Amino acid sequence: MKFISISEAMKKGSGKIAVRGWVHRERGSNKMKFIVLRDVSDIIQCVVSREKFEKQWEEIDKIQIEYSLEIEGTIKEDKRAPTGYEISVDKLKVIGESDEFPIQKDLNEELLGDRRHLWLRSRKMTAILKIRSTVMQSFRDYFREQGFYEFQSPIIIPGGAEEGPTMFELDYFGKKMYLAQTWQLYAEAAMYGLDKIYGIGPTFRAEKSKTSRHLTEFWMAEMEVAWADLEKIMDYAEGMTKYILKKVLDKHKKELEILGRDFKKLEPTLKKKFPRVTYDEALKLLKEKKNMKVEWGKDLRTIEEEKFMELYDVPVFVTHYPKEAMAFYKPKDPKNPKTALCFDMLGPEASGELIGGSERDTNIDELKKALKAKGEKLEDYSYYFDIHSYGAVPHAGFGLGPERLIKWVCGLDSIKDAIGFPRTMTRMKP
Ligand code: 4AD
Ligand code: MG
Repeated sequence: MKFISISEAMKKGSGKIAVRGWVHRERGSNKMKFIVLRDVSDIIQCVVSREKFEKQWEEIDKIQIEYSLEIEGTIKEDKRAPTGYEISVDKLKVIGESDEFPIQKDLNEELLGDRRHLWLRSRKMTAILKIRSTVMQSFRDYFREQGFYEFQSPIIIPGGAEEGPTMFELDYFGKKMYLAQTWQLYAEAAMYGLDKIYGIGPTFRAEKSKTSRHLTEFWMAEMEVAWADLEKIMDYAEGMTKYILKKVLDKHKKELEILGRDFKKLEPTLKKKFPRVTYDEALKLLKEKKNMKVEWGKDLRTIEEEKFMELYDVPVFVTHYPKEAMAFYKPKDPKNPKTALCFDMLGPEASGELIGGSERDTNIDELKKALKAKGEKLEDYSYYFDIHSYGAVPHAGFGLGPERLIKWVCGLDSIKDAIGFPRTMTRMKP
């Protein structure tokens, strides 16, 4: 018989079927064995009666969680079964035996982390990883549909990036090299030829932040566009966010249910326009509505972002942050030179900064001044000055943290669950 997936078998609903997968749960007596079988698509209860399997009973009696099995039998609807269907088993073949599975119900986060390689097969992790796959694909699809090219930048770089002090050093045949913190600076070089580009790749930050939204290795989904200004890239950021969210809601209601996510909370994001608020206005709102005084000139802290976002049920663009607190490439706003032409897109439900973006400064003197003020070595950036020395044009771009987006969409407590094998300051294995 041809194997079909558990969800296909349930769609069929009656008659003979063959399925295969892993034992999700089991219980039994000396007359019957109830096996809940799991495959990528779903779970289903399978009933094995000793009567039919007298000769094989010794083997069947030993079956425990994570055994892999091939099963043939008859499927029928059964309201009492966990997913509404049951298979009465006619034939059962053990493919792989399983040692006692070292993950039980109330394992703490640390132990689950140590056993991550096994925990990945849980229904929770499988649901998240399916959604993650859709998020990554939808990011690409959105920009493809908008006529962008995909560009890849190097991960091993000689130096020069977002924030020098948070770079991971690497011994490169006796020379010091670093792991990239962003695709952006190399992408700007490619932008001069390709106009509209996007990229998605691993990103590294030696940030000593032990928060629920920082990883030391994460993926960044970035874009860069020639001739674009701040308004234009916020349009892209909003369009992209809605596009990705719609794909997830269309495809993954079941996974969101497994995760216990109230997806009604995501619906306003599809329907409403995202507000655009300046940093100055945000400080004013924080003071008036949240009784929180923030000193002008600093980036918003997590607690301030969270308080501010309590005022909204959709993502919000906060624009025009203080120039001095921003990365060197974010240009001054000519109308208010103390601020920069940049934005952070903050997510609702305390999900924090999901996207950071800006126009790019092409004034080499300004770039040098900003880098010097941050204590950077100018020679690390010589190629970057060079690209803007030949026909510079206005351009802008942004970077999305897919793990942050996934954490929000799935309603996760920690960003660590938004990626297969998380890396943080304290988690590097497995
Ligand atoms: O705001 P960031 O630092 O922006 C850049 O790196 C720009 N070069 C991007 C660009 O304009 N092309 O990072 C962008 C996003 C953040 O908004 C956040 O979602 C995510 O990357 N991010 C992290 N995600 C997980 N762990 C961390 N440690 C992160 N740091 C940033
Ligand atoms: Mg940022």
